[in-house]
Amino acid sequence: MAVEIDLLIRDGQVVTAAHGTCPVRGRDMQELEVIERGWVACAGERIAAVGPRASVENQVEVTSRTQVIDAQGKVVTPGLIDPHTHLIFGGSREDEFYLRARGADYMEIMEAGGGILSSVRATRSASLEELVASGRQRLQWMLQMGVTTVECKSGYGLDLQTELKQLEAVRILQQEQPVELVPTFLGAHAWPPEYEGNQEGYVGFLVDTVLPAVREQGVAEYVDVFTEKGVFSVEQSRRIFQRAVELGFSLRVHADEMHTLGGAELAAELGMASADHLLMVSGQGISALAESDVMPILLPGTAFSLRKPYAPARKMLEAGLPLALATDFNPGSCPTANLVLVMSLACLYMAMTPEEVFNAVTINAAHSLGRASRLGSLEPGKQADVVIFGVDDYKKVPYFIGVNLVETVIKAGRLVVGS
Ligand code: NIG
Ligand code: FE
Repeated sequence: MAVEIDLLIRDGQVVTAAHGTCPVRGRDMQELEVIERGWVACAGERIAAVGPRASVENQVEVTSRTQVIDAQGKVVTPGLIDPHTHLIFGGSREDEFYLRARGADYMEIMEAGGGILSSVRATRSASLEELVASGRQRLQWMLQMGVTTVECKSGYGLDLQTELKQLEAVRILQQEQPVELVPTFLGAHAWPPEYEGNQEGYVGFLVDTVLPAVREQGVAEYVDVFTEKGVFSVEQSRRIFQRAVELGFSLRVHADEMHTLGGAELAAELGMASADHLLMVSGQGISALAESDVMPILLPGTAFSLRKPYAPARKMLEAGLPLALATDFNPGSCPTANLVLVMSLACLYMAMTPEEVFNAVTINAAHSLGRASRLGSLEPGKQADVVIFGVDDYKKVPYFIGVNLVETVIKAGRLVVGS
């Protein structure tokens, strides 16, 4: 018997990953399934059928209660997934933005006590309510731009209480708004002032006290480390990650962002879920990733904002790697929440194609977050996370740079943007 459906999106250009079950790698990233005048039928939270009209009509029953959205002349894609953000922070750093615009270096600002440490001061003094309120506003920006799932890192506390406060803000936001949030603990983001000159002391504190407490409270899925010259060395990072694995966390890493340090190789060695940034990844790092299941996540908004060289996306694709893209939304190195802008930057500055960037922010981003069996493509049985763009071809989405073309967003079968 045909399934009764609650929502029908009809006659749009339906665009989705061609392979919904495994990460899309290398040359396969050029492929997308495009159904002209396609139908997407949803029952409750799930997609019931996708395809040309005739095939969907055969499988489902439209009743008087079915909401019908006419998407003729529009593009219909899976909800976009942003797999690397620093969503929760107090204050903002527009003063540094102007300093950097006039030539100041990001790492020099950090070494002088600004940068991440300036956001740490503001986040420590912010109340939980303030962090929730600013996080809510930023998630609204993202949702309006078609983003339905967001990974959120802590890392502006660098003490137990503030790190937990950030993760608590994520937990509260998850309960009150529709964007799905994936919490990551990033206590190893910078050296806190309390441990000045005592790096081993801070690593010990993370390993012995903070990681077990975060585990105990069940407020993070992943552990991330800023593995970088002057921040956490590969050895210090390995120690933190090994403890995280013992405690049952999965891993992500800020790898080879400003310097070639071997973060990509460490990600491969430890079988991490993702290795992110990779602006300065070496040929060896690329080979190590190619032999692993790690998802490389590129953040071209950060290269753009810091005026640094972009990650070698084409080299990585030629080596057969899959790629995901993310904003890196944060108050310092990349204050943009616009994932579609990041898709445009990836096309323009990393020579990625529109097909590759759509795969990167849907199915591959879902894989990097361990959610690809439920999210990241328009397929029967998956969660009905859908975006409708007000243009008639998906290639126009990255092409109209910085324009928000999103008209409608559906999260788990529910209309959350548009009408
Ligand atoms: O991903 N690299 C480290 N962390 C962030 C920047 C955070 C900040 O500047 O506040 C990043 O670039
Ligand atoms: Fe980051």
